[in-house]
Amino acid sequence: MHQDVERILLTEEEVAGTIQKLADRLNADYQDKEVLCVCVLKGSVIVYSDLVRKFTFPVTFDFLIASSYESSSVSSHILKIKKDLETDIKGKHVLIIEDIIDTGHTLFHLKNELLKREPASLKICTLLDKPSRREDPMEADYVGAVIPNEFVVGCGLDYDGRYRQFPYVGVLKRECYEK
Ligand code: PRP
Repeated sequence: MHQDVERILLTEEEVAGTIQKLADRLNADYQDKEVLCVCVLKGSVIVYSDLVRKFTFPVTFDFLIASSYESSSVSSHILKIKKDLETDIKGKHVLIIEDIIDTGHTLFHLKNELLKREPASLKICTLLDKPSRREDPMEADYVGAVIPNEFVVGCGLDYDGRYRQFPYVGVLKRECYEK
């Protein structure tokens, strides 16, 4: 375990088991449908690559970079798409794969934006869900693990760009982010 990690929330084996269970459900639900799998960079890259390799239905890949920020002028959050999809999703089955849903701002606005493009279906899969932090009404269709309100890193999750590569989900020591 890395010295900046206080404790492990999900071991590497537990993460692998969680990914397999998600893949089993998705394989059963999609069967022969072709699905555009959307990776929301950067955090979801680890979960995405672990998950898509377990899919037995036909897939295509696409990637986007998005973040939400608070706008004082409209007193709510606005989605900024820094890199958009290259695929026209109209009429396609789309699966967004995320590492975590926290306040829900990013996915709430991203889902609304992508629904305007008229996909055949749009589902959200996340490895981790932190419902106690929710500020926008956003529920994923597929949730790997519900976690408490702790500052977690690993499996794509970062603090200041670091720790994403840990194969486990760990709670970061408070002293690492409260300086
Ligand atoms: C993380 C994560 C989600 C989002 C969830 O991305 O990958 O996209 O935050 O948080 P929310 O529910 O509060 O909106 P982040 O914006 O940190 O960028 P990253 O993927 O590059 O780490």
